[in-house]
Amino acid sequence: MKNKVLLIGMPGSGKTTLSRMLSKILQVPYIDMDDFIESQTGKEISQIFQNGEHYFRYVETQACNVLAKKKDLIIAAGGGIVKKPVNLKYFEQDTLILFIKRPIEEIIKDIDLSTRPLLKSGMHKLELLYKERYSLYKKFSDYTIENVGDINKTLEEILKIMK
Ligand code: S3P
Repeated sequence: MKNKVLLIGMPGSGKTTLSRMLSKILQVPYIDMDDFIESQTGKEISQIFQNGEHYFRYVETQACNVLAKKKDLIIAAGGGIVKKPVNLKYFEQDTLILFIKRPIEEIIKDIDLSTRPLLKSGMHKLELLYKERYSLYKKFSDYTIENVGDINKTLEEILKIMK
């Protein structure tokens, strides 16, 4: 039995917004994994990155381990969760994993690249990461949900799957 939902996908794909919307409708709490990491460590994500991406990934894996043990929760993952298979392994038994797929051109309209540690070098980096990760998002998710245009339609798609 699936007892929680994990939204994966690129930064700016709408994971947090959709988690918030789902949480309201389903009356189930949601958590943004980056917020969870910040509250656990008392540090901002950008500060954690100052110790290197490798260290951030270690902290992220610890967060996955803790959150995977919870029930009745909607989780918006950080975009890089798919970089370590073990992160998804924690969730595989009892979590519905949804890949929120949003085209790069749409993502760029919405996000401020300068505030995201991995994307500071700009759009090229975003494209590179998308290429690197696309097959991983596919591989680790139960469903792919397109998020283009009206976000309410995307939400409906998710609700249909969950029925
Ligand atoms: C990352 C995405 C971020 C955050 C960190 C690394 C990534 O989360 O976890 O900056 O590797 O794509 P969002 O996807 O919520 O922006």
